[in-house]
Amino acid sequence: ELGYDVIDLNMACPVKRLRGCARGGHLLHQPEKASEIIQEVSQAVGGRVPLTIKLRRGFDDEQDSEKNFFRIIEDTIDQGFFAAVVHGRTVRQKYEGPSRWNFLSQLTQRYPDFRIMGSGDIFTPESVFEMLARTGVDAVSVARGAIGNPWIFRQASLLLEGKAPRPPSLEEQGSVLRDHFELCSRFHTERKTQKLMRKFGIKFSIHHPEPGNAEKAFISCRSLSDWWDVFKRLYCDTEVAAGEIPSGDSP
Ligand SMILES: Cc1cc2nc3c(=O)[nH]c(=O)nc-3n(C[C@H](O)[C@H](O)[C@H](O)COP(=O)(O)O)c2cc1C
Repeated sequence: ELGYDVIDLNMACPVKRLRGCARGGHLLHQPEKASEIIQEVSQAVGGRVPLTIKLRRGFDDEQDSEKNFFRIIEDTIDQGFFAAVVHGRTVRQKYEGPSRWNFLSQLTQRYPDFRIMGSGDIFTPESVFEMLARTGVDAVSVARGAIGNPWIFRQASLLLEGKAPRPPSLEEQGSVLRDHFELCSRFHTERKTQKLMRKFGIKFSIHHPEPGNAEKAFISCRSLSDWWDVFKRLYCDTEVAAGEIPSGDSP
């Protein structure tokens, strides 16, 4: 009714505060509850839009966890889900240690007719193709690799066409960083915007022609006007970025 194209059930989020209310990845060790949700959502949606599920490879490394995972994924297959996106870490692992891509290979071999999308440790456009080749997944999900490098999708598309992935020009960097600022300030308070944009400025600095100086400059920002001063200095040799620089603390 609200016009969404897809409904995704999240049984992967490791955030602790979800534990008490049995949500996200914490459902992975409550397979009965997980199955109930899968069935009820499937019945309620009645095939009107595709359903997907996001899973981690288990709650932890205990044997029961693996059993629970397979029970849950088989429920989604039985309920006609469109695909499962699987992150090859356990909930307990959070982000420690590598994502186990071998587990993704096991899944694609075990369920050749069900769409499996892979997640975990995709930090470069090349790693998208490495995961496809090594695991046989149908698609790859990019997450932290896009933080500070939103061009990763374009770079992967270029690789797919057999072309070399092009780094972003200074003009593109300035333009995206500026849009990022505007979106951030639309949804967050000034204080939060300052904190987030300092962090993203630091992340974006790896693309700058002088990455070390750019990083230091963003690290030193203590206010929004500091941030804009740094932005102007680093990115405003170019017309797009120079456009209309807000004069005060906000755009
Ligand atoms: C800041 C942040 C927010 C995330 N939010 C979601 C989310 O809303 N839904 C989801 O399925 N996964 C979410 N994830 C998990 C990622 O989709 C992905 O499975 C995980 O980061 C592993 O991939 P990576 O190692 O390539 O980052 C989030 C991850 C991060 C870092």
